[in-house]
Amino acid sequence: MKVTVVGAGAVGASCAEYIAIKDFASEVVLLDIKEGYAEGKAMDLMQTASLNGFDTKITGITNDYSKTAGSDIAVITSGVPRKPGMTREELIGINAGIVKTVASSLLEHSPNAILIVVSNPMDTMTYLVHKTTDLPKNKIIGMGGALDSARFKYRLAEALDAPISDIDGMVIGGHSDTGMVPLASHATRNSINVTEFLTEDRLSQVVEDTKVGGATLTKLLGTSAWYAPGAAVSGLVQAIACDQKKMFPCSTYLEGEYGLEDICIGVPVILGKNGIEEIVDVPLSEAEKNKMKESAAGVSKTNGLLEL
Ligand code: LAC
Repeated sequence: MKVTVVGAGAVGASCAEYIAIKDFASEVVLLDIKEGYAEGKAMDLMQTASLNGFDTKITGITNDYSKTAGSDIAVITSGVPRKPGMTREELIGINAGIVKTVASSLLEHSPNAILIVVSNPMDTMTYLVHKTTDLPKNKIIGMGGALDSARFKYRLAEALDAPISDIDGMVIGGHSDTGMVPLASHATRNSINVTEFLTEDRLSQVVEDTKVGGATLTKLLGTSAWYAPGAAVSGLVQAIACDQKKMFPCSTYLEGEYGLEDICIGVPVILGKNGIEEIVDVPLSEAEKNKMKESAAGVSKTNGLLEL
């Protein structure tokens, strides 16, 4: 199993690290345009192998896509991250050109790869890859919901003063401050609905804190977060590599599912060796359906800024 991660910045390096630590891939190739940067990160990470107990071989490459040939899975993290006060949507101008070039360079050398898109605005970048490559839709996966769900669980555990392992919950919709739809009515603590334990106000606070999870970190860090994004990507990569058939909310191209068409947006999917093996239709309340519609309108507006 060969995995390529394009972009050796904080998110890309964190992806490579978590993939390696989980020790399911034989090889991770880290590629960056900055001379020597991916090589340095790869060497540093390889020097953790004996300490962290993994055998995955990590190599770093400066912009030579021939070295990514034969990748089974490729992760696109390239582009600029947001700065404090910026929305993910504001990155579209610069990131669209980068993501388009990266996707076509990857597919030139690994035509059968499954692509995971992380660059922002993620749902629109996923749509761009769908529109500008010949890849079937099951092989184009946008990473957002897995991260947003992890942030939702963190906030729920905090509100409930409970261990995270007791908590389950999912965030669907667009990966944006206004577009996320945390499914509060479905979230549970050890199978009991969290609405049994939290007041409506406290739960609304959890939902709001979740939606601005990325922005909160950007403000604290001065750039966008990397540990949770990297860990979320590694979970998707592992589910595909190990054919786990696990359910994650991911951005995928919809053709009528959830009443939406011609859009990539976060919905629950089953991930296995073929990438997205199924889109799962979860029953939503009227309020959640309306939020999903609003979220889709926001994503479509951003998609409209693409020059396709
Ligand atoms: C975040 C970026 C990865 O939410 O979109 O941290």
